[in-house]
Amino acid sequence: MSDFDINTRNGLPPELAQMLPDLPRPEWPAHHAYDGLAGHWLDIHGGLKKLGKTVLSDCEQALDKRMDPMAHANRVGQLGNMLLNHLHTHHQIEDHVLFPRLDALDPTFRRGFDMLETDHTVLDALLNDFAGTANDVLRQAGEGPKDWPTVIDPLHQILVRLDGFLDRHLADEEDLVIPLTLKHEIMDMG
Ligand SMILES: [Fe+2]
Ligand SMILES: [Fe+2]
Repeated sequence: MSDFDINTRNGLPPELAQMLPDLPRPEWPAHHAYDGLAGHWLDIHGGLKKLGKTVLSDCEQALDKRMDPMAHANRVGQLGNMLLNHLHTHHQIEDHVLFPRLDALDPTFRRGFDMLETDHTVLDALLNDFAGTANDVLRQAGEGPKDWPTVIDPLHQILVRLDGFLDRHLADEEDLVIPLTLKHEIMDMG
C-alpha cells in the first residue's frame, strides 16, 4: 500500500501536490498558455473518458437486454478496438515524449512521472485482459444464439475496472502535468 499505487491512492500523493505551482483546476482555462498543449491534452483525455464510458454503457445496456446482442458485438469490435488503439498511442507519446520533456524542465517531479509510467504498465495488463475478453465475446457472437448476459459478464467486470482505473489515472495525471505545462508555457508537442 502506497500513496503512489494506482490501486490504493485517492489522488495525487501529497508530497507531489505540495511542490506544484499554485494553479487550482478551476483557474486552468483562464491561464494564458491554456490554448497550447494543456487544453489539447485535456481534450484528448475527455475523448478517452467518453469512449471508455460509452463502451461500458453499451455493455450495461446489453446486460439489461436493452441492446441487441449482435448490435452490441459490432460495437464491442469497433469501439473496443478504437479505445485500445487510442490508449496505447496516447500512453506511448506520454512515456516517450511528454514526460521526458517535462522531466528535463522540472526533474523535481521525477517520482510523479515514474508513478504515471507505472500506471501505464498496470493499464497495459488491464488492456490485454480487455482485448482477450472482447475477442472471446466476438468469437461467441459468431457461434450463434447464446445467453448474451452470461457471455458478456466477464467483459462487464473488466470494463468496470478499466473505468475506475481511467478516472483515477487521468485525473492524477492532469493534476500533475497540466500545472507544469502551464507554468512552462508549453504550446505544442515540440
Ligand atoms: Fe497516462
Ligand atoms: Fe494521458
